[in-house]
Amino acid sequence: MFDGGSDFDISSTVSWHALAAHQQHMYNLHLRELFAMAPDRGRELTVQAADLRIDFSKNHITRETVELLAALAREAGVEEKRDAMFAGAHINTSEDRAVLHTALRLPRDAELVVDGQDVVADVHEVLDAMGEFTDRVRSGEWTGHTGKAITDVVNIGIGGSDLGPVMAYEALRHYRHPRLTGHFVSNSDPSDLAAALDGLDAETTLFVVSSKTFTTLETITNATAAKAWLLSELGVGEGDPAVEKHFVAVSTNAEEVSAFGIDTDNMFGFWSWVGGRYSIDSAIGLSLMIAIGRERFDEFLAGFHAIDEHFRTAPLEENGPALLALVGLWYSNFWDAQSQAVMPYSNDMERFPAYLQQLTMESNGKSVTTAGHHVTTPTGSIYWGEPGTNGQHAFFQLLHQGTWLIPADFIGFANPVDDRTTADGRSFHDILMANFFAQTEVLAFGKTADDIAAEGVPPALVPHKVMPGNRPTTSILAPQLTPSVLGQLIALYEHQTFVKGMVWGINPFDQWGVELGKQQANALMGVIGDDAVPAQQPDSSTDAMVRWYREQRGR
Ligand code: F6P
Repeated sequence: MFDGGSDFDISSTVSWHALAAHQQHMYNLHLRELFAMAPDRGRELTVQAADLRIDFSKNHITRETVELLAALAREAGVEEKRDAMFAGAHINTSEDRAVLHTALRLPRDAELVVDGQDVVADVHEVLDAMGEFTDRVRSGEWTGHTGKAITDVVNIGIGGSDLGPVMAYEALRHYRHPRLTGHFVSNSDPSDLAAALDGLDAETTLFVVSSKTFTTLETITNATAAKAWLLSELGVGEGDPAVEKHFVAVSTNAEEVSAFGIDTDNMFGFWSWVGGRYSIDSAIGLSLMIAIGRERFDEFLAGFHAIDEHFRTAPLEENGPALLALVGLWYSNFWDAQSQAVMPYSNDMERFPAYLQQLTMESNGKSVTTAGHHVTTPTGSIYWGEPGTNGQHAFFQLLHQGTWLIPADFIGFANPVDDRTTADGRSFHDILMANFFAQTEVLAFGKTADDIAAEGVPPALVPHKVMPGNRPTTSILAPQLTPSVLGQLIALYEHQTFVKGMVWGINPFDQWGVELGKQQANALMGVIGDDAVPAQQPDSSTDAMVRWYREQRGR
């Protein structure tokens, strides 16, 4: 059973100490030597998780490392906690909630009753409602106030109510409906909404207001402004039924949705057991479903489910998400790596690193255990990245010859969704993937001073040209970027985030750290926007900045 309150300290375990000793040995072995010692290690350290081929061989690991890491995960109770999560136990202890994003992708005939509620039936009821609405929008049967078919869908949301939808909308660009264009508004900077609305025709625009709580300042501010724009463009007044044809909501909060003026018949619900950053496969995916259609959305969900099943059943030593987590943790906790890079070799996956930042950093950016004790180990890697090949011409220099250890995940696809050839007959995709393979190879093996000198390079230049290699990467390959494969990739990272959190003994499902900033922003709104002379701020820096700002604004 899940225990949210034990004094368990992972860094005092036998496996932790064994890994620390093992690291001393591994530290002296260059990846070149590891490959020389085990010529077939490329195949031996590759696992298959549904359609994902995950090659861990260019990491500072051996089979022994994998066994020690699996032992660590077992000592941390990862398998029991995984089973507790899938069963609907309240593993989000600080909020006393189940964590059931895996239920969002259960097939219709699955069974799962949690807290007396048939979760599968609830999920499919919402999916059916989303599907019916999607069909009506896509076919043109759902029209705006003046009877015209919808051409533009504007998702208004932030955090998990934005990053997943926009990332997946971009990633699945080739599967979109030709008449419908998606737009995504998140920032409280008004230029975000203004840019999205620029050139839109209110008569054919549909707003999807996505907010779990329906109280998030940015979202409600943008949605209110969007409503004002719509009413003014249509030349109707507040309370006009036109709003019903142009606004739908995705939320768990029917009361606030109704108070905003959206008919709750046009609200698509989800549940407290879906965390914001784990919600793209819930009704939060409505704008995506409208773009790609319900069948493709079903394929997307099936992709998540395939990885869920793999994660639930594969032994830790062969388990893609678990190994991705454990290898990451190996670097964070035993090699002092602070960050984790992710490079999708796919321009359509441009927003994937930003999506992962919320998923991983809002989840594992914690410094107390579930029992409330200060952690004894570093947690929560800093995730960052850019699509290849762009990153190669920006920051890869630091990866190749810099002083930091930065493990990197490379994501690539065998078949392009859009196959194009250059004027001289070469495949664009082959150029892209040749770079993927070249970078992971060069990062691992580099080039020695002897090799460089042998090329006739002047001695003074040799040190500058030495490529140390020994830089770890994990290569994640899939046949093609389809809706299913995208679902698999997201689930892979969801579960690796979970495994890390469980080993560290923290709660990856709450986010108390973002609350105080929100409260303080509300308090400061009164200070910077008020005509009255502001009260002294507690610190001299904020106080001086607030006064300077007010002066600049003529207050
Ligand atoms: O910033 C914190 C957060 O609560 C995220 O976890 C969440 O995804 C985001 O705000 C948006 O919340 P909501 O969907 O309730 O508007």
